[in-house]
Amino acid sequence: MIIRLTPAYLRALEQAASIAVRQAATLPALEAVRVEYLGRRGKITTALQTLPHLPLEERRGLGRQANEVKRRIEALLIERRRSLPTSDRPIDRSLPVGRPERGHLHPLTLFSRRVMEIWRSFGYDVYEGPELEEAKTNFDDLNVPPDHPARDVQDTFFIQDHPELVLRTHTSTVQIRWPKSYGVKPPFKVVEIGKVYRHEATDATHESMFFQCDGVLVDRQVTMAHLVTTLKAFMDRLYPGKPSRIRPSFFPFVEPGIELDLWWKQPSKPGQWLEILGAGLVHPNVVRSMGLKPNQWQGFAFGMGLDRLAMLEYGIPDIRLFYSGNLEFLQQF
Ligand code: PHE
Repeated sequence: MIIRLTPAYLRALEQAASIAVRQAATLPALEAVRVEYLGRRGKITTALQTLPHLPLEERRGLGRQANEVKRRIEALLIERRRSLPTSDRPIDRSLPVGRPERGHLHPLTLFSRRVMEIWRSFGYDVYEGPELEEAKTNFDDLNVPPDHPARDVQDTFFIQDHPELVLRTHTSTVQIRWPKSYGVKPPFKVVEIGKVYRHEATDATHESMFFQCDGVLVDRQVTMAHLVTTLKAFMDRLYPGKPSRIRPSFFPFVEPGIELDLWWKQPSKPGQWLEILGAGLVHPNVVRSMGLKPNQWQGFAFGMGLDRLAMLEYGIPDIRLFYSGNLEFLQQF
């Protein structure tokens, strides 16, 4: 079980425990509640055991809070025990029942919506393209050469008996889909957030399915200055005050290409530069794939992975938790 011990988590535990105590209508039911929260492997006990792993400054306050919660639940149990009959008695069906649990949004949905809202506020349209994609759109139209390693069956999921289809490996396909399949004429600017797939071994930081956000802007005389200003404005909205830097890089669909790193520093840990996104000016061959003339139209494009950013944001240690359907994990958000 993975718990992130926070004041909110403790409050939620206490609330759940007091409802359970109130609802326990017999002594055995009450004992089950005690074991569930205060038993050797109970929820409060387990929460207390994670304390030594926390940074010192969090430990003090949380430790005190956890012990107070524990004492209050013990007091509730004693009080309830006194009020329950020692022999079996018919259950009082008129007693109030606890509130049913309510669902809520997945952490990746919450994070995606935040990213999307920023692009929307910059006037970008939002597009959602297919996850089952033509290899032509995923690779050829984006100027990925025929012998590029990404096309290997080791890296990409192809569809059996349909070599012309793949599970898209990036949402950069929006560069082709928006003008071609959707028929949008320039100037335009659009972002897409969606699932992408890579055929690779999974571990704490890699999944074969994850989320990306890509965007593309096409207009007359678009320059690197427009791109860099846009990316900086975006980063300032997503993470105000965090420094970022830009490095030259290579992607087949842009020329020149860059990457943006963000300086990430958490209390009591050394800071580090994190690769956040790839970007660049749309390659003339890709402008042609859009059905446009490169001497008339230029553009910039960018793409970023959302899972790792969301992991940093919420302090999640393992990317696989996002897709595990583990309720104890999900209920923390
Ligand atoms: N598609 C690239 C990736 O998956 C990111 C990127 C998008 C780079 C657009 C440049 C332009 O890493």
